[in-house]
Amino acid sequence: MKIAVIGTGYVGLVVGACLAETGNDVICVDKDEVKVRLLRRAKVPIYEPGLTELVKRNAAEGRLAFTTQLSRAVKASEIIFIAVGTPQGEDGSADLQHVEAVARDIGKTMDGFRVIVDKSTVPVGTAQRVRAIVARETSHPFSVVSNPEFLKQGAAVDDFMKPDRVVIGAEDQRGAELMVALYQPFTRTGAPIMVMDCASAELAKYAANALLATRISFMNEVANVCELFGADVDRVRQAVGSDRRIGSSFLFPGVGYGGSCFPKDVKALVRFSADKKYDFKVLKAVEAVNQRQKLVLVKKLESHFKSLKGRTIAVWGLAFKPKTDDMREAPAVPIIKALLEKGATVQAYDPEAMNVARGIFGTKVTYAKKSYDALRDADALAIVTEWHEFREPDFDRMRRLMKTPVVFDGRNIYHPQQMQAHGFIYASIGR
Ligand SMILES: NC(=O)c1ccc[n+]([C@@H]2O[C@H](COP(=O)([O-])OP(=O)(O)OC[C@H]3O[C@@H](n4cnc5c(N)ncnc54)[C@H](O)[C@@H]3O)[C@@H](O)[C@H]2O)c1
Repeated sequence: MKIAVIGTGYVGLVVGACLAETGNDVICVDKDEVKVRLLRRAKVPIYEPGLTELVKRNAAEGRLAFTTQLSRAVKASEIIFIAVGTPQGEDGSADLQHVEAVARDIGKTMDGFRVIVDKSTVPVGTAQRVRAIVARETSHPFSVVSNPEFLKQGAAVDDFMKPDRVVIGAEDQRGAELMVALYQPFTRTGAPIMVMDCASAELAKYAANALLATRISFMNEVANVCELFGADVDRVRQAVGSDRRIGSSFLFPGVGYGGSCFPKDVKALVRFSADKKYDFKVLKAVEAVNQRQKLVLVKKLESHFKSLKGRTIAVWGLAFKPKTDDMREAPAVPIIKALLEKGATVQAYDPEAMNVARGIFGTKVTYAKKSYDALRDADALAIVTEWHEFREPDFDRMRRLMKTPVVFDGRNIYHPQQMQAHGFIYASIGR
């Protein structure tokens, strides 16, 4: 099939490359000229495992092209994915300006039947809105489809190639059938393609993210209560997670969730429910707990040292989760800001997010080339992201480098007894 993907961020680029991989002809569009120039040379501007190889191969085989000209892509394609950002607006709602601008441009340039797919995460009712915007610009027939994306950054290619399910919201047969055909190569192992109305598809995406965020905030509260009673959250988590009705994923306590999706999607669901006069109480609490949890590590550090003024704190992990360079809403940002405000010096290290961090903190932070360099003369180490390379470090080397052997582990990657045996003062979450 001939496909256009508008927006080549974490979602659009993965969608474009994976659809090319199954033999479709894909043109990816972005208004960011620098990005498009890089992609034309098969240089992928983000870190996502496996993506560079996929882009290189499919571009070389002539199935994947990049342009800044939306009209060229729209004219050449029968299915057009809108995969632009839907950032958080000032009042917590999803800002739809990019989606709407793209819908207008598609309407203006389409010259025959098109399937227009909302791939971006958009509030309930957006498919209708997109339909109205396009209809104002064109007399050609078209279908609007809502096809929310459930991929995880850090495993995005794998998730798209082997989805748990594909959700397609469609109001007419023609659009639904084309989408089902497009996704069939990805669901050979039996994952369901679920066709439903657009409102249900739109809400399914928010409900999924909000439920995952709820599990995280819930376990963070359980961890905080564990600390009050001397219980071990690892034991509690295992006991709870082995109940088949509950399952074991997304029950790890830590320093709160971040990223470009959970925080904004939780707020947007609260917001568009409120538009219908519905007070989504659970999610308001989920969000409040998350805000508090992001500063738990700083509070622990402060109560250990009494004052952080003049202290040197090493921070391992800046990205909002491992295997990505994305720092949008990353807990590391408020943590480092609070440390700096309290007069500490921060020596930071992340395997992939150093350049992004430089854009956020400039010269306020010292950037270490290697994880161990960050520890030099540090009063304490704060672990904020659970990258694999932090899991089995050389503890003796760590202790020798640090001024005092103090580790505050925001992701519970070490065991308290193990750290005690290595001579560290060690604190974690809920243990
Ligand atoms: N990041 C994720 O893990 C993830 C997962 C599922 C769904 N989503 C949703 O997918 C959408 C995109 O997210 P993302 O993380 O890929 O965003 P992103 O910010 O990484 O990328 C968006 C891209 O769209 C481009 N763009 C904006 N307006 C444009 C226009 N008018 N024409 C052409 N290009 C334009 C931007 O230049 C940018 O490259 C969001 O709605 C998000 O909520 C994201």
